[in-house]
Amino acid sequence: MAQRPYIVGNWKMHGTRAMLSEARAIDRAAQRHMKVEVAIAPPFTLIHPVHREAEQIGVGAQDCHHEAEGAFTGDISAAMIADAGAKFVILGHSERREAHGETDALVRAKAETALAAGLRIILCCGESAKTRDSGKAVAFVRKQLKASLPEPDQAFEDASERITVAYEPIWAIGSGNAATIADIVEMHAAIRALLIDLYGEEQGSEVRILYGGSVKPENASEILTAPEVGGALVGGASLTADSFMGIALAAAVETEDS
Ligand code: 13P
Repeated sequence: MAQRPYIVGNWKMHGTRAMLSEARAIDRAAQRHMKVEVAIAPPFTLIHPVHREAEQIGVGAQDCHHEAEGAFTGDISAAMIADAGAKFVILGHSERREAHGETDALVRAKAETALAAGLRIILCCGESAKTRDSGKAVAFVRKQLKASLPEPDQAFEDASERITVAYEPIWAIGSGNAATIADIVEMHAAIRALLIDLYGEEQGSEVRILYGGSVKPENASEILTAPEVGGALVGGASLTADSFMGIALAAAVETEDS
């Protein structure tokens, strides 16, 4: 059974308690579009406040540690974010891979720890401009994803419910220029084939694949109707209820049309 479109806001390092009013507005608007699954990943400090107020939207984190607990000053575990109300965690975002040197192996370890803590995961992948220009984008993303996703024997029977993949070409993030539909379609088809290879037809064909990178209300409809696009991971345009829900509305219209 096809899953609902999934529209996720990644607030990155934006937001103090003053932003709770936006979260409330997003939650209220999401109640009018129940055919779309709407979620936000605020900074750690806002997970619990958003969770306490949200009636409809999902709340998640942007990272967690790969160990369950221990002497890791300043780090946050999967169990802690779950305790604060997070239902999912974004892992392997290119900003963490780049700025914090996160390797595929580390991202995989985080993914397995998060799943074991009962969280859902959104696992990010995506190539740099240099890799795309060299014509190796698909091969790069396949390799990156294969090494970052939980081992098939670690994935649970309900992999398609608990694992989401986000394709976010690095050069499209925050640039104002999303990837072309042709590039998105090509990459999402390659990711789908890999997911079926790894998790089998039944689970692999149902894992949602989100696109991320300069998604905004103006381009959302075109992107969300592309084959194998199961939703969007949105950065800048998720910071206000108006623009974020413009994207969710595009997903809702698509669901009603289909
Ligand atoms: P932008 O939507 O700001 O391009 O960011 C995308 C992103 O990195 C979401 O994780």
